[in-house]
Amino acid sequence: MAKYKPWTVCCFTLIVLFCAVALVSFCIFTFVDRKCPSGSFKHAAVAADSLRCSQIGRNMLQEGGSAVDGAIAALLCTSVVNPQSMGIGGGSIFTIRDKTGKVKVFNFRETVPKSFKSNLLEDCPTTFKMTKGTQWIGVPGELRGYESVHKQYGKLSWARLFEPTIKLAREGIPLPPYLEYILKVPIAKKHLEGSSLCEVICNKNKTVLSKGDILKFPKLADSLEVIAAQGADAFYTGKIGQDLIQDVKAAGGTLEMEDLESFKVRVEDAWTVPLGDTKMHFAPPPTGGPLLAFILKLLEGFSLTPSSFHGEQKIQTYHRFIEAAKFANGQKRNIRDPLFNDIKTAEHLIDPAFIHRIRDMISSNSTHNNSYYNVKPSSDHFGTTHVSVLDEDGLAVSATSTINHLFGGAIYSSRTGIILNNELSDFCGRVDSLTAGEQPPSSMTPVIVESKSGGLLVIGGSGGSMIIAAVALSIMNRLWLGMNLTDAIEAPIVFIDSKNNLNFEKFENIEKIEQPVRDGLIALGHKLGSSQFFLNVVNAVEKEKGCIVAVSDSRKLGKSAGY
Ligand SMILES: *[C@@H]1O[C@H](CO)[C@@H](O)[C@H](O)[C@H]1NC(C)=O
Ligand SMILES: *[C@@H]1O[C@H](CO)[C@@H](O)[C@H](O)[C@H]1NC(C)=O
Ligand SMILES: *[C@@H]1O[C@H](CO)[C@@H](O)[C@H](O)[C@H]1NC(C)=O
Ligand SMILES: *[C@@H]1O[C@H](CO)[C@@H](O)[C@H](O)[C@H]1NC(C)=O
Repeated sequence: MAKYKPWTVCCFTLIVLFCAVALVSFCIFTFVDRKCPSGSFKHAAVAADSLRCSQIGRNMLQEGGSAVDGAIAALLCTSVVNPQSMGIGGGSIFTIRDKTGKVKVFNFRETVPKSFKSNLLEDCPTTFKMTKGTQWIGVPGELRGYESVHKQYGKLSWARLFEPTIKLAREGIPLPPYLEYILKVPIAKKHLEGSSLCEVICNKNKTVLSKGDILKFPKLADSLEVIAAQGADAFYTGKIGQDLIQDVKAAGGTLEMEDLESFKVRVEDAWTVPLGDTKMHFAPPPTGGPLLAFILKLLEGFSLTPSSFHGEQKIQTYHRFIEAAKFANGQKRNIRDPLFNDIKTAEHLIDPAFIHRIRDMISSNSTHNNSYYNVKPSSDHFGTTHVSVLDEDGLAVSATSTINHLFGGAIYSSRTGIILNNELSDFCGRVDSLTAGEQPPSSMTPVIVESKSGGLLVIGGSGGSMIIAAVALSIMNRLWLGMNLTDAIEAPIVFIDSKNNLNFEKFENIEKIEQPVRDGLIALGHKLGSSQFFLNVVNAVEKEKGCIVAVSDSRKLGKSAGY
């Protein structure tokens, strides 16, 4: 037997020991559960408008579904829990990032039908008003869109995504608290009580539902059952479509079966801009994405840090945001459907030279009249929903969906249980003419931000004209002002309306922004607007260092879900 010298044995033992320690550390690091802080999730999460719908989306993910399955199921649920915001009679925009980092946009927003009222734009309201009337109905894209994203990214069966919502619609749910709040608002109540929607939103005595009442959509449950079994064709080429068209025509509308049959989902690459040490992906025109990017690129140049919100500096920081938003208002008319208009109309909004030039026009100690920003006043409006989803495989979905105003134009198809959109009113104040097939410009902006270190922020919002301000400020707060995601979303907004007046967020007449800051901004020359309702809502999911935080805006009483 060979003899080993003591130092060889010693050395050998050390090597073995070293290897063992390295192996154990590797195992602990790789295979043992790394804890995420309480309130965050390890695998996947959904941030929808309501806990119920976030949970339905989360359950799909836990059953092995993808983020797209989760988003579709959560949106279908939202069409029952927040029927004022979206539904299968509307349209959506999905921004989807796959795990290889490729970001696609599926745009299935409503389009102008073949036949439409020739002088439609003359019907545009000049002051804030809930538009009624069948002339505003755009061709619904919702189900064609779900079909398209599900084909590409779905893992569960199509029918499975509908099951939880069919049950809710058929059995009913206690009137959701947020809807209860909306129904108490006098203009909403009046809008609905005189409309065909009263069939599902009112009591027997024809007054809107109130606390404790059960909200049910039995006809919608029937339609969803057929669509779950037969696919989107049941709507676009089948009986449900025919019934819907019959109801729309009976109400005086121009929508035809041919419009449904020819609806096409648009699939395109996302637009991407560098933003600080991140990259922001967003949907191209006619969405609000380019305006959002324009505002954030203007702000990026001011090198904001957490101290930008300390003391007096807070006034200057809001002022810069406000000036950026005023310039964005002046650019709104450049957001058109590129398939029907000059394709280059919005590209300058993310051109560094243009951004630089505009940033130089932002004065630190004063504001200007509307001609400085090239603003033509129009009216603002509110509605919509957003869901953000991140799954275990790293698929990220940022989806904004709408029927436009609250309950669309309050046109209900009683044969199908579907609430129709009034999307064509989005052309108001933004264009001088429109074309069959064209998509109206939108404020919707589903976004995905990725950081160099592999972090992801899936974010978007609802609230019509307030979407861009709400999403821009949330991103600013999160990326530059050092707030965590909850604080970034909860922080009050300043909404710069289409007349470039300032509206400080309030809740039930209580101001959310400190008086000295409001006074400081007024002293800089900003004028006050008269917005009363702040229906801005932001829902987001963020992944950082392996842990996921999901935030549903408390303004809509939302809660996220994950695991
Ligand atoms: C309508 O019915 C509901 C309950 O079904 C009741 O609370 C409400 O007071 C009634 N309204 C009128 C005007 O009768
Ligand atoms: C505003 O600031 C500019 C330079 O930033 C300065 O030239 C100008 O005098 C200031 N105006 C007022 C009214 O303070
Ligand atoms: C707006 O400001 C410009 C220059 O600052 C001025 O020429 C114009 O008259 C002003 N317009 C109004 C309506 O005040
Ligand atoms: C976010 O930050 C605030 C302090 O600004 C803190 O109170 C809160 O607990 C934080 N939320 C989370 C989820 O970390």
